[in-house]
Amino acid sequence: MGIDKEKEYLLKAIGAFQRRFIVVSPKFKILAANCRLNGTAESEVIGKCCHLIFYDRQEPCDNCAVKEAIAKRKPTLMPKPQNTLDLDEMPCYFAYPIYSGDEIEAYVSMDFDLPTRGGLEEKLHRSNAFLRNLIFSAVDGVIASDIAGKVLIFNDAATKVFGYSVDEALLYLNVRDIYPDNKAYEVMRNLRSDQYGGKGKLQSYQVDIISKNKEIIPIFLNAAIVYENEKEVATIGFFHDLREELRMKEELGKTQLQLLQAEKMSSLGKLAAGVAHQLNNPLGGITLFTKLILEEYDLEDGAKEDLNRILRDAKRCRDTVKELLEFTRQTRQLMRPHDINRSLTRTLFLLESQTLFHNIEIVKELDASLPPVLSDIQQLYHLFMNIILNAAQAMEGKGMLTIKSYLLPDGDKVCIEISDTGPGISSENLPHIFEPFFTTKEEGKGTGLGLSLAYRIVQNHGGSIQADSVPGNGTTFTIVLPVGSKKT
Ligand SMILES: Nc1ncnc2c1ncn2[C@@H]1O[C@H](COP(=O)(O)OP(=O)(O)OP(=O)(O)O)[C@@H](O)[C@H]1O
Ligand SMILES: [Mg+2]
Repeated sequence: MGIDKEKEYLLKAIGAFQRRFIVVSPKFKILAANCRLNGTAESEVIGKCCHLIFYDRQEPCDNCAVKEAIAKRKPTLMPKPQNTLDLDEMPCYFAYPIYSGDEIEAYVSMDFDLPTRGGLEEKLHRSNAFLRNLIFSAVDGVIASDIAGKVLIFNDAATKVFGYSVDEALLYLNVRDIYPDNKAYEVMRNLRSDQYGGKGKLQSYQVDIISKNKEIIPIFLNAAIVYENEKEVATIGFFHDLREELRMKEELGKTQLQLLQAEKMSSLGKLAAGVAHQLNNPLGGITLFTKLILEEYDLEDGAKEDLNRILRDAKRCRDTVKELLEFTRQTRQLMRPHDINRSLTRTLFLLESQTLFHNIEIVKELDASLPPVLSDIQQLYHLFMNIILNAAQAMEGKGMLTIKSYLLPDGDKVCIEISDTGPGISSENLPHIFEPFFTTKEEGKGTGLGLSLAYRIVQNHGGSIQADSVPGNGTTFTIVLPVGSKKT
């Protein structure tokens, strides 16, 4: 068909169209029209202003779609008139520009709502932008992928959790690779089952993910499969990073444990102090009268030996009572600035001569620039002695003992680490080691008071003590003591 014929048909088609369809200049002059207007032939309306011809107005109408289209330079749909039932009464409420190159040459104005599609598109565009904003400003990581795992949406929060940039994720990441050990299949299987919030859904599902730098991160995942005509087309997941929550939970647990410990220690301390005082007097009596008998009577050697045994045992009892009093802080504290390295070295010096230590390699990494720590030297000896002895006993006299001291970055706390290469402490025992009378040693070999005393001493100094152990791989005790005073 020739081009002229085509044009002719097009013009006829527009002419036969039952609704008003006109082309106006940017000055509202009618350039073409498809209808008779107020009885005037279309040829006669050409060049006249539309508002004058249609509505007998000198100025463009208030609700003029062309006016809006001129202002916005794009297709414009005015709100549909509320109370116009008569189709002939419809105002021009849709207009769109016609371009000549980059310039707008004219506007088409219509009084029918075929072009509602344009409005819908704009609405769709707007609601898409809103959804995009919602997803991108979400606090949790949001990842959507197609059914092959190709990432389609990767929001800002996801970049923080996973460590990939949005571009990296969209171009190279497959959603299966964000789970370690092929866990993606397990996640998909659970998503398809109806056990986690219904078929196609996962609610509050805890899972580990692996970040770009290979860090395993615990996550709370809420996810869904997107279906189209019952066919899976995509998945969307909301990833909530659990690291901070778990850290806080652990911290809280530790604080609770410490509180419990402190409470136990204080009631036990009171009890022990009472018992110690009650024992001191009779022990004094036993010692005194045994000595008197030894001095005043001419006894056989066997009897003398027995009495000396009584004296030795009584002395041991008094030593234990002294320990108990120390333990319950009944001895007077003498707080003075002390060199921690020196007290560690002296404790080691006292212990090293014992056979238990002969086959233990001792490594000292002591920071010579430590400031003095306000402390009771006697208590410090007890503290280090108990921990070092435990380490040597755990290693059964063979292994490596490492003792480190250093200043913490804030500059007002000293840290002491005592590590051994012994069998470690099981996770069941670890929470109990600071409890008084907790021991795993055979009867007669341990009282279970060593670490509870250590705990109390560290507390008296306003510090903290902690044990970390990997069973089979040794134990490290970390003691943090505040410097307290910078004076020497
Ligand atoms: N370095 C260590 N390696 C392995 N286990 C340890 C270590 N230090 C302490 N323990 C465990 O902690 C328990 C409690 O220690 P604690 O010093 O309080 O008591 P004890 O050594 O058993 O007895 P005591 O010190 O009164 O003679 C020990 O029985 C042991 O099971
Ligand atoms: Mg001990």
